[in-house]
This record gives sequence, structure tokens and C-alpha cells, in this order.
Amino acid sequence: SQYKIAVIPGDGIGPEVMKEALKVLEGLKEQDSTFQFQADMFDWNSDYYLKHGKMMPENGMETLKNYDAILFGAIGDERVPDEITIWELIMPIRKQFQQYINLRPVKKLDGMKTRYDDVEIDFVIVRENAEGEYSNSGGRLYQGMELELAIQNTVITKRGTSLAAQFAFEYAKKNGKKKVTSGTKSNAVIHSMKLWDEAVQLVASNYPEITLEENYIDALAAYFVQRPQSFEVVVASNLFGDILSDLGSALVGGLGISPSANLNPNREYPSMFEPVHGSAPDIAGTGKANPIAQIWSTAMMLEHLGRNDLAEKIMIGIESVVKQGKVLTADLGGTATTEEMGQAIIEAMLAN
Ligand code: NAI
Ligand code: MG
Repeated sequence: SQYKIAVIPGDGIGPEVMKEALKVLEGLKEQDSTFQFQADMFDWNSDYYLKHGKMMPENGMETLKNYDAILFGAIGDERVPDEITIWELIMPIRKQFQQYINLRPVKKLDGMKTRYDDVEIDFVIVRENAEGEYSNSGGRLYQGMELELAIQNTVITKRGTSLAAQFAFEYAKKNGKKKVTSGTKSNAVIHSMKLWDEAVQLVASNYPEITLEENYIDALAAYFVQRPQSFEVVVASNLFGDILSDLGSALVGGLGISPSANLNPNREYPSMFEPVHGSAPDIAGTGKANPIAQIWSTAMMLEHLGRNDLAEKIMIGIESVVKQGKVLTADLGGTATTEEMGQAIIEAMLAN
């Protein structure tokens, strides 16, 4: 079968790292005739906005619906407010395609220089991606006055939380993990986080072979730093998961390597795969961008499409380049360009 992939490179380093990811896909296709894909490019970025006054055409979402997956680069440009680039492009895709799970692996690659050279770090963060603290509900009153106030409501639903927890436990089960850690704050946030706890506990009761560990989010942040090797699967609300995943990324090598998947687990709509990082305007155009996060995101896409074999191949390519330590971009302490590192990964991948 032929996979239809919608490619949105975006702004800044987005197109630079996307170029390498597409070369990886081409390389796999050349080597393995059972892997066929069609990649259609969409130039929906800040230039597009400045020309058309919107981030995507009227029928943009309809168009994307026809794809098996969306491979996204990064968006953000000083000429367009971040609220527009993010809320008119990324958010509609995440929300309308019900990508209610954001999956972020936190894995220390063999040979990666970190503060944790003596332990193995390999866990995933399952972030609730559709509700929680990131809701539009709320407002501001008495603007400009002494008593000015803002209210921002958190929406925790039993259904949304159960879906996130279920995904976390299923993931644990499928991957031979023994423990799921839930980030909570029900001691202080007594309404929404209590419901979160109850919903997670209910799901956990269906998985007697997997331990549920519940940690308050502040303590959990400290445990991430103190004993990252002790985690297997971590499930958290939208805001908590967002913060934990950047912390997790920093533990194992930084933004240049961190991938993510926005998943619609029931596969009614396409899922979207993107690096955790943004458009990095400070290094855009210099050839310094690390392509690993984008290439790893591509591996997650292939896994989602059922080609675990190809995803593993990509990971072998990434890991062998990191382990050799000869062709690395500046963020990993080397001097290689985006293209040189991409090329090294492709060669290592195809050699296996
Ligand atoms: P950023 O992730 O773009 O950059 C943060 C720092 O990490 C910078 O110093 C950058 O050079 C470095 N960095 C990021 N990716 C790298 C890579 N692949 N290789 C080497 N170094 C890398 O975050 P920042 O600076 O806060 O935001 C810049 C723009 O990106 C903003 O407009 C922001 O809104 C947008 N953004 C977009 C996201 C998305 O498209 N999903 C996510 C985060 C930010
Ligand atoms: Mg974030």
C-alpha cells in the first residue's frame, strides 16, 4: 500500500530539518520496495500568512483529512504573532483531528553526553493534548483597575482523563512496562485534579499487572532530575505534561533531538508528528540545526503507520551516528552542518 503523507515544513529551521527527514524517507523507499509513499508539500507558514492573511486555505483541514499522517516541521516568525501561527495552524490540527494524546519519548541514546552517564533513561510521557489547563474558558474583568482579575478555567473530564490513562496503560502493556506514573496535584487543586486521580485509578484497576504510582507534580519534577531511570510511562495533564516533557528533553540531550507525536489513537483522523522544538530563529539559515528531532519524529510516524521495521532502522541510524560522535551538530558539541548530520544518519541507516 502507498502511504499519503502531508508535509508542512513551516518556518525557520523547520524546512531545513524537514529536508533531511524527507531524504531519510526517500532512502528507505529506495532500499525497500514494499515501502511506497507520496509526500505532498504544504507551504502553510508565515510567508503564506503574510501573503494570504491566514495560515492555511479555507479547505485546509478538509485537504489534510485525506492523508494517512502529517509530518510537521516548526512554525514561528517574528513578523507574525505567535498566537496566530500556533492557534491558526497547529491548534486546529490537534483539536479538530482529535489528537488527544501527545506522546514524547525521553530516551538517552547510547553515547549521548548527559549528566546521567551512569544510568539508563528510557521512558515516555503521555500528555493529555485536548483539554485540561489549555482551554479557552475564562475571561478578564475590570481592566486597568486596581481590582483587575483574570480567570482561566481548567477543563478536566472523566472521559478525557480516562482516554489518556487508557493510552498510557495500553502503551505500558504493549511495551512490557510495569509501572505508570501519574502526575497530579490533588492536594491543592482539589476539584479538577481529584477527578483526574479518580479517573486514572479506575483505569488502573483494569491493569492489575501494572503498578500505578501517583506523584504530586512538584515532587515529580524533582524525581525526574534525581532518578530519571526509575520511570517507565508517565501520564499527565496538558500543562503538567508540557512542562515535564521539556524537562525530560533536557535530561537526555535537549530540544535538538526530542520528537513528539500528536495522536488520534482511534485513527478516525490523521495524526501529526513534529519535533518538540520551534523554528529557532537564532540559528535559522546557519546550517546549525540538529535534524535528529525531525528524523526521530519521522520514525514515530512510520511506527504509527505500522512500519516498526523502518522506524527501527531509522533509530539505528540515529544511534550509530550519536555513538560514533564524529558527525554532530553544535548543540551536541560538534561542528557538522544539518545536511552533514542528515547524510551520516542516512548512510548509517542504510548500512544496516
Ligand atoms: P525554539 O525551540 O525554536 O528554540 C529554543 C532554543 O533551542 C534556541 O536557542 C534554538 O537555537 C535551540 N534549538 C531548537 N531546535 C534546535 C535544533 N533542531 N538544533 C539545534 N538547536 C535547536 O524555541 P523559541 O526560541 O522559544 O521559539 C522560536 C519560535 O518557535 C517562536 O515563534 C515560537 O512560538 C515557535 N515555536 C513553535 C513550536 C512549534 O512549531 N510546534 C514549538 C515551540 C516554539
Ligand atoms: Mg512545550
